[in-house]
Amino acid sequence: MIYYFSGTGNSYAAAKYLAEGLGEDLMDIAAAVKNNQYEYTLKPDEKLGFVFPVYAWAPPRIVTDFAKNLELYYSGDPYIFAVCTCGASAGKTMDIFENALEENGLVLDSGFSLVMPDNCITLFEVDSDEEVAEKFENAEKTLKNILRAVKLGWSDFFRIKRGKFSGILSGVVSPVFSMGALKTKPFYVTKDCIGCGLCEKICTSGCIELIAGRPIWTEDKCNMCLACINRCPAKAIQYGKKTEKRGRYVHPIYQTNKNGEMTE
Ligand SMILES: Cc1cc2nc3c(=O)[nH]c(=O)nc-3n(C[C@H](O)[C@H](O)[C@H](O)COP(=O)(O)O)c2cc1C
Ligand code: SF4
Ligand code: SF4
Repeated sequence: MIYYFSGTGNSYAAAKYLAEGLGEDLMDIAAAVKNNQYEYTLKPDEKLGFVFPVYAWAPPRIVTDFAKNLELYYSGDPYIFAVCTCGASAGKTMDIFENALEENGLVLDSGFSLVMPDNCITLFEVDSDEEVAEKFENAEKTLKNILRAVKLGWSDFFRIKRGKFSGILSGVVSPVFSMGALKTKPFYVTKDCIGCGLCEKICTSGCIELIAGRPIWTEDKCNMCLACINRCPAKAIQYGKKTEKRGRYVHPIYQTNKNGEMTE
């Protein structure tokens, strides 16, 4: 079983590649949380994987909470691996995730980071087309290596691009981000909205509701996955003023047509 969390498709695409390569099933963590599905029984020799993005040099809170609350049934010693996708560097994301699993009595055998295009448009401009192409090319090679390592069951094996100052970034900046940034207040919708309903459908925290054909952020419990703002087909969602001039990023696997209908 491979559990994944994804806002703009990078982690989903990686999880799907690994699931197909390993012959395992895929489960969306946001859907599992929504449906209160925390129980899972591993078949003999079935591997358990987690794929998720890096948010402020840490795993998304929903992912660590899920790892702590997963009710896993198994026999023997299950093989557990994790992949975190990031725009540049992961800091101590994997250590934090490993600790969350440990709290649940589970041991992480291997962990990997995978650099993909950056989707954090509330802070930065999107990567250029050249940067995106280069990241995809490198990610394809890295994913092949990850699949091989997992298939062979390599244990105590970690390949993480931590970047500089990982202790400070993951230890100090990340908790500040968790306290302050997970608020929906700065989101607003412009007159360009076509009322397609995609934002309501894809919101990973279920806090968007379409009222009179326009999205309303009903609660302040955002995952900050940035799916709504990046995937809106009309570019009608903004976050403060800075996103007005910035581009949007969506992995091809999550592309929609101009009416907001999934094309995959
Ligand atoms: C709120 C937020 C914080 C992020 N923080 C980091 C970070 O600390 N380091 C990094 O390299 N990328 C960071 N990113 C970029 C994402 O980790 C990266 O684009 C990821 O592959 C997105 O995955 P997804 O498409 O599955 O949602 C951040 C993105 C968001 C939305
Ligand atoms: S995804 Fe965009 S266009 Fe569609 S309802 Fe939401 S804001 Fe409007
Ligand atoms: S409001 Fe937007 S950023 Fe927040 S969880 Fe929903 S889709 Fe993600």
